[in-house]
Amino acid sequence: MNHRAIISGTGHYTPEHVLTNADLERMIDTSDEWIVTRTGIHERRIRSKDEATSDFIVAAARCALEQAGKTTAEIDAIIVGTVTPDYKLPSTASVVQRKLDIPKAAIVDIAAACAGFIYGLAMGQSFVESGMYRNVLVAGAETLSSITNYQDRNTCVLFGDGCGCAVVTRGENGEKENGTGILAAHISGDGRLGDLLNMPIGGSKVPLTPENYEQRGHLLHMDGREVFKYAVREMADSCVQAMEKAGVGIEDIDMIIPHQANIRIIEALVKKLKANRDKVFINIQNYGNTSAASVPIALDEARRAGKVTKGMTVLMTAFGGGFTWGSAVVRF
Ligand code: ACO
Repeated sequence: MNHRAIISGTGHYTPEHVLTNADLERMIDTSDEWIVTRTGIHERRIRSKDEATSDFIVAAARCALEQAGKTTAEIDAIIVGTVTPDYKLPSTASVVQRKLDIPKAAIVDIAAACAGFIYGLAMGQSFVESGMYRNVLVAGAETLSSITNYQDRNTCVLFGDGCGCAVVTRGENGEKENGTGILAAHISGDGRLGDLLNMPIGGSKVPLTPENYEQRGHLLHMDGREVFKYAVREMADSCVQAMEKAGVGIEDIDMIIPHQANIRIIEALVKKLKANRDKVFINIQNYGNTSAASVPIALDEARRAGKVTKGMTVLMTAFGGGFTWGSAVVRF
């Protein structure tokens, strides 16, 4: 490792429109009581018709760049974690580059579902540590409302839209010596379990046609109960691996920022890690599950609220479709 990678800035954006549990009660057979007790979600944000995933990233990236004190000209690579790209081609990272007028950069989308931001962070860290790049913009961004089946009560109450960004930068001010920066990241997956959370129609295997449209297989399908089990197990295991790699224990962690998929998953994770519940950042009540955007929105909210400050060690973890999962330990 030649260089230390640090997070020099974060930002987030969520759309204005709020979809409450009361709104959902009017749309499907559900209740505020069921949603709150089973998931912890009270409301979620939904994009306006003219907002695409790239628009969220542009807004969040501007905040992150400002905090990092970086200009767009300094960005060497843009990594976007999303399962809701603007288009299949070009990549959303390509659209973001054009909209932010970033002169030259490597541009790539990664489809790692809810773990997309952690995957991006791990890639950004590697690019910076290897000396390949100085500044990498990592985004986790979703317009999940565009792939949600609002006739399926098992899934539609869970998802929301939003974006979070981080600027991963080569440390130049002795970060390696004072032990700050991205201390470790761990990413993994299990493709054998891909069918438990998928969109079976609309790709090259089964293209979307007028005949299969009504099956709604081009929208998100999830076996929630199965996903739940794996989510707790793999996130806990991944947290332990990242902490071991970073040389820290759970007692050294000042704040845990978990993927906000379900309050019961978060609580089970906290129990498994034997962590202190007061050191867990939770905003699921306001946004629901925003997939790749979930961890970076929470990270930026925690930092801007003064709950993550200089010198603190943060553990981030996520789990999503694929299955994919990952964790990162960062000292700010
Ligand atoms: N309102 C009322 N009742 C409902 C609703 C609803 N919105 N949804 C389901 N139910 C009913 C079911 O039909 C079922 O009824 P039945 O017993 O008569 O069949 C009952 O409630 C219980 O359903 P379960 O699915 O067992 O409910 P569970 O407690 O498992 O909660 C949930 C479901 C919230 C989906 C949970 O399993 C979960 O959070 N799973 C994990 C999701 C996750 O972590 N995803 C991560 C990745 S997402 C991504 O990558 C995009």
